[in-house]
Amino acid sequence: MSTSKTKENKYKIAIVPGDGIGSEVMEATISVLNELDIDFDYIYGEAGDACLEKTGTALPQETIDIVRNSDACLFGAAGETAADVIVKLRQEMKMFANLRPVKSYPNTNALSENIDFMIVRENTEGLYIADKEEFTDEGAIAKRVITREAEERIIDYAFQYAKDNGKSKVTGVHKANVLKKSDGLFKDIFYEVGEKYPDIEKEDFYVDATAMYLITQPENFEVIVTTNLFGDILSDEGAGLVGGLGLIPSANIGNDGALFEPVHGSAPDIAGKGIANPIAMMLSAVMMLRYLGENESADKLDSAILKVLTEAKVLTGDLSGSATTMEVADEIKNLIK
Ligand code: NAI
Ligand code: MG
Repeated sequence: MSTSKTKENKYKIAIVPGDGIGSEVMEATISVLNELDIDFDYIYGEAGDACLEKTGTALPQETIDIVRNSDACLFGAAGETAADVIVKLRQEMKMFANLRPVKSYPNTNALSENIDFMIVRENTEGLYIADKEEFTDEGAIAKRVITREAEERIIDYAFQYAKDNGKSKVTGVHKANVLKKSDGLFKDIFYEVGEKYPDIEKEDFYVDATAMYLITQPENFEVIVTTNLFGDILSDEGAGLVGGLGLIPSANIGNDGALFEPVHGSAPDIAGKGIANPIAMMLSAVMMLRYLGENESADKLDSAILKVLTEAKVLTGDLSGSATTMEVADEIKNLIK
């Protein structure tokens, strides 16, 4: 362990706890991060329902600036204003890649013990462009936008991720048999970009078949790369595969910033009771540490979390335990020490 901290491992981290259990799991996660041999400078920003009530806006410019000027952002959860906060932040920061790891942990209701893959979803185009949707005399039309630039960027990100993380295969997911032009282009780009990565196996599936394979042979997958809507749907299927919102982290990555957040929301049904599972937020912090290149600390935190789940002595109610949020954090802190 290094004794003197170099300039490289001092980081400015934007902390946006948000609403409900967002601030509870954030507090637990920060207490755990403080056990690591890294200097974090936390800068807090407000956002969400309570912020809207207090300031008249769910995402103040000041918070956007805090995120913009940080090395990375940890985001808890927002309530009813989630779309105004998180979607806007992703757009402001041009975070083009949405990463959702799908991994089975012990003592959870995962469908299989050996699930471990990453979904890399394009975050900026596809069907999710509000101004490409309009009412017509007959009903409504949404246009699906696929640009070479954005798809090359996300596909290259997926292959590079595979290479950097010792994965041997990338699966491209599309519907090129029906969407011959837009997804035909996606499929072509997938194999074009893939040529730069000769050591990585490539395969492609239609999205409907993928939805089935995820259930029938989830162990087949290592890295999935796909467009916005398909990625949104398959990510939630992935969450279902490994069971439990309390365990699922995510990352939003751009060239100028990155934001790490649990997939769950503000959970008003359990907020204020101190019983939320902090692990999804902590695993989001693990993703942040890897993004910052702090792999040793990431491994340390990751294995402490795995140990807590394996031992199953200190777990929150969603995992059939009776521990509080901070008791889980304390257990993880002890394991890190
Ligand atoms: P939710 O994820 O907040 O809760 C769904 C269920 O899972 C609840 O029963 C909750 O108690 C449980 N749960 C979630 N996280 C948990 C954790 N860490 N530990 C233990 N149990 C947990 O989703 P819901 O109920 O659909 O939405 C509640 C609010 O959150 C809404 O206002 C919604 O707009 C917002 N939301 C925000 C998101 C974000 O900020 N990224 C994402 C999803 C929802
Ligand atoms: Mg979704």
